Amino acid sequence: MTLRTLIFALALVPLAAHADDLRHDALAASLAPIDAASALKAVKGNDVTPAKIELGQKLFFDPRLSKSQLISCASCHNLSLGGADTGSTSVGHGWQKGPRRAPTVLNAVFNSAQFWDGRAEDLKAQAKGPIQAAVEMSNTPAAVEATLRSMPGYVKDFDAAFPHEAQPVTFDNMAKAIEAFEATLVTPGARFDKFLAGDDAALNDSEKKGLRLFLDKGCASCHSGPNIGGAAYFSFGVAKAPSEELRPIADKGRSAVTKSASDDFVFRAAPLRNVALRAPYFHTGKVWSLDEAVNLMAVHQLGTTLSPEETREIVAFLGSLNGEAPKVAYPTLPPRASETPRPQY
Ligand code: HEM
Ligand code: HEM
Repeated sequence: MTLRTLIFALALVPLAAHADDLRHDALAASLAPIDAASALKAVKGNDVTPAKIELGQKLFFDPRLSKSQLISCASCHNLSLGGADTGSTSVGHGWQKGPRRAPTVLNAVFNSAQFWDGRAEDLKAQAKGPIQAAVEMSNTPAAVEATLRSMPGYVKDFDAAFPHEAQPVTFDNMAKAIEAFEATLVTPGARFDKFLAGDDAALNDSEKKGLRLFLDKGCASCHSGPNIGGAAYFSFGVAKAPSEELRPIADKGRSAVTKSASDDFVFRAAPLRNVALRAPYFHTGKVWSLDEAVNLMAVHQLGTTLSPEETREIVAFLGSLNGEAPKVAYPTLPPRASETPRPQY
């Protein structure tokens, strides 16, 4: 070894040790990588089979599940846009505006419960909500079953996905198939995950500094697990109440689920995977820049302010959470039959 290579090698030692400490601290704070195989295992009480996934994919993209036959799950959870939609809050049946921002369906299988307030236990319970919500798809289980049963293509697909059932085409089975498809909507392979797996060079210096700040400032105490959030509930405004625009008084969050006043304005810590891809932010969707969202978190959750450089570094780290998007082919849907119900506006 020449003197030059020796000096170079020695210079790398502290850097590698530094990266090891950072990795160790991130794992100790329960930041975890996305593992696509564990997503399928995370689904409880519903065997995820290829036939169910294929059927669920069709249902996810089929606007005929809605009363108007204009709105599909994909209308508000656009897989080309990080699994969310483009507005602050979603627009549904009859151009009605809902009260909350659509969270992403990507990696939703890793959340401990679904919705900003966690009111649905899992994805199959969740999928029944929007179809019936007046401001979303405005349909009824009976009308959805009649629509699906009218199309021989769907009857065949449900038979294949739910063999040995006397009547496979049910609202419950629709929800199970959608859940199976959603369990495939995961984004492994983020640079952060490569770093956790031991690749020191996967994050640049600025991202590493951002990760260190994310840990040391306390962000990771609420945003952890494989989805870097989505696991637990916290008051939105621990240190300082957010403005009425950001946290309207009419939406009390989790207390509507638990019926406990101590859960007023408590929300699930938002999952931060792919967060850079899906502005606007928060349950009201009123913040359009990630820098501002991070600054607001520091003020309202941690009672501190970040320097512009700290904000830049944390935002750089958050960018390293973008994973590989699932490759989803736009499905061909079964054609309607003469008895298929018509759209109603
Ligand atoms: C929440 C899936 C239709 C707007 C969610 C969540 C999932 C999901 C998994 C929870 C994600 C999380 O908590 O992190 C679906 C499926 C649909 C569907 C499978 C079709 C059956 C729609 C439509 C709209 C919409 C059509 C817009 C009109 C929303 C909104 C929330 C949400 C606003 C948050 C509601 C709240 O927290 O109270 N959806 N969605 N979704 N979705 Fe959908
Ligand atoms: C939401 C980042 C600290 C709890 C968010 C969002 C971001 C973020 C970007 C919006 C995500 C989205 O809308 O998709 C950060 C950063 C932090 C931090 C960088 C450190 C500086 C915390 C802490 C807590 C917390 C310490 C808990 C005490 C929450 C909650 C939400 C949220 C409850 C959802 C708020 C809502 O209802 O809209 N966080 N966060 N965060 N975070 Fe944090």
